[in-house]
Amino acid sequence: MPQSHTVYLNEDAAHDAAIRLINEEAFGPGRFVRAAERLREQGPHCRELSFVAMAERKVVGSVRLTPVWIGAIAGHLLGPLAVRPDYKNLGIGRELVRISLEAACRNGSGGVLLVGDPPYYQPLGFKPVPAGVIAFPGPVDLRRVLVAGCDPTDARLAGLVSWRADDPGPDVSATLTIPGAAESQEERRQPEEAGE
Ligand SMILES: CC(C)(COP(=O)(O)OP(=O)(O)OC[C@H]1O[C@@H](n2cnc3c(N)ncnc32)[C@H](O)[C@@H]1OP(=O)(O)O)[C@@H](O)C(=O)NCCC(=O)NCCS
Repeated sequence: MPQSHTVYLNEDAAHDAAIRLINEEAFGPGRFVRAAERLREQGPHCRELSFVAMAERKVVGSVRLTPVWIGAIAGHLLGPLAVRPDYKNLGIGRELVRISLEAACRNGSGGVLLVGDPPYYQPLGFKPVPAGVIAFPGPVDLRRVLVAGCDPTDARLAGLVSWRADDPGPDVSATLTIPGAAESQEERRQPEEAGE
């Protein structure tokens, strides 16, 4: 399945069941004890900044962004990010990260934080956080905490991370350049064939 046959859409409620299955498959029951999950369970994620990858009319990948405070900065937590096994290594994960980071920054996010594998995320613009700069509400492996500031000169991403209520803001799907977006409306009209 070439990457050109994948389309990227803003997430909506019709994708929820498929996303739940993808995350169960990727992370298993252990996902609920992860530090980032502690934050995500405090409130809803931001649909406007969350995306799915669709191939063959099915949801094959997902990334979600959740609004958080990073100290005094209104930022976002990226994750979970997951791609179905048959669609791995096609660049879908990278594209989901790129799209969501771009959408967050365009919409005034102060920066995007995640807990993940540095070798995967560092080439995508994420940097490790020096010890003691960012604190999570629960235990976390600080070597896996990475941030991408939306302003390259912004070094203010520091302090305690906590969930925050989000202002939905403008409709970013209207301003994003998403490969294959022309086909996206047809995909949206047929959710029963989207693997749900
Ligand atoms: C991680 C994941 C989202 C990557 O999605 P993907 O669409 O296969 O990734 P891409 O095609 O964009 O990139 C593939 C490259 O990333 C590498 N890669 C994949 N997972 C990696 C990881 N955890 N650490 C480092 N590199 C990784 C692959 O080896 C491949 O390298 P190459 O381009 O040099 O061959 C997917 O493997 C997945 O769903 N994994 C299970 C859930 C998970 O671990 N989520 C991320 C939490 S850190």
